[in-house]
Amino acid sequence: MRAYVLLVASIAALGGLLFGYDTGVISGAILFISKQFALDNRLQAFTISVVLIGCIGGSAVSGSVADRIGRRPTLFGAGVIFLLGALLSALAGNEAILLCGRFVVGLGIGLSSVVAPLYISEVAPAPVRGALVSLYQFAITIGILAAYIVDYLLAGDGQWRWMLGLAVIPSLILMGGMIRMPESPRYLFKVGRDLLAREELQRIYEDESASGREEASILESLKVRRGGLAALLSPSIRPALVIGVALAVLQQVTGINSVIYYGPRIFEMAGVGSAAASILAQSLVGAVNCGMTLVAIFFVDRIGRKPLLYAGLTGMFVALTVMAYAFSQPHLSGSLGTIALVSMMVYVGCFAFSFGPILWLLISEIFPLPVRGAGMSVSTLANWVGNFAVSQSFLGMVERLGSPATFGTYAVLCIVTIVFVRTMVPETKQELLEEVHVGGA
Ligand code: BGC
Repeated sequence: MRAYVLLVASIAALGGLLFGYDTGVISGAILFISKQFALDNRLQAFTISVVLIGCIGGSAVSGSVADRIGRRPTLFGAGVIFLLGALLSALAGNEAILLCGRFVVGLGIGLSSVVAPLYISEVAPAPVRGALVSLYQFAITIGILAAYIVDYLLAGDGQWRWMLGLAVIPSLILMGGMIRMPESPRYLFKVGRDLLAREELQRIYEDESASGREEASILESLKVRRGGLAALLSPSIRPALVIGVALAVLQQVTGINSVIYYGPRIFEMAGVGSAAASILAQSLVGAVNCGMTLVAIFFVDRIGRKPLLYAGLTGMFVALTVMAYAFSQPHLSGSLGTIALVSMMVYVGCFAFSFGPILWLLISEIFPLPVRGAGMSVSTLANWVGNFAVSQSFLGMVERLGSPATFGTYAVLCIVTIVFVRTMVPETKQELLEEVHVGGA
């Protein structure tokens, strides 16, 4: 792989780092924010979830913005929004400003969660596209882990402003980096800037025949299809839309963020003694999440998307079933408690090498170029709505149905996902983006 392509993907992946950091950091910061602004439970919950509302808004508009002004300026713009949001929330003098700041951060996350994987997959040569888009998920997990660590280190003095404000650093790097990055060659062809597009393709591919082949298939795909939101609903594109939206929702309703956002609460339920031990265990969750994503980077282009998804989802199912069993026992102490905790790590690890990265990869691959921005936008929007639904319902489900039924529901949804992948999802390994065929598309 060319160092150039790796650099381009790494800069864009900073959008993922900010996604992970900004969604993870609030769990530690909220303890001090709620003291400072004397928040009741309702306002606390809203302070946590307002970012997700911003994400829904940002992802809804991102596709059309990226199709209109280009991938590169959109990602640069996301960097600016991240910066403003971080400053606004870190310097907030009252709760209202803090809420605005977190909403703005959410807009940035929503925008970049569509455009970063889209941009990476459009500049990546087919044989390493899986690894490069998985790099984006890797950056998300580094961001989450960094947030846990920063929260831990700054908790002693209750420095919530620094916790939120540190996001300024990656935002500046993202902005600075995107100024120097190229536009996606696919976008350039789409807007008729063929000369520049050709130059870009030549920088990406070492040999001319590969870049020529890619150019021909991009131009071919532009000839046949029209873009826009209406085109997304046309019979030839609809199967891709169904796959994108369904996978995006399934990635959330199989429960990952109940562990990422509420880990310390689950540890408490599993009998972990002190708050400090829970925070430490949560950092371990972050490390497993991060480390296991490397497995995807290594294997996703070699053995393919679907085999990894089957392996990961099966592991998630088994781990969730064991957790449901463990939590159904009257006393979760001793070895049973340990089994529950190990299962939780296995669950996160299995997600990390499969559904975590592969969702972002597949939704960046299955839509034809003219509707790629719009298709990713709608799928990502569905992902954020699913995220919101799970993070809002988790504690209530545990209270009303009990934790065994809650984890059991996530387990059943893993099986539903396996069946869906088997029947609906195409294998896209090694194909040029324009050669990926979905249903009748
Ligand atoms: C998901 C996020 C999740 C993260 C965990 C991403 O792929 O979309 O909702 O928090 O993985 O690593």
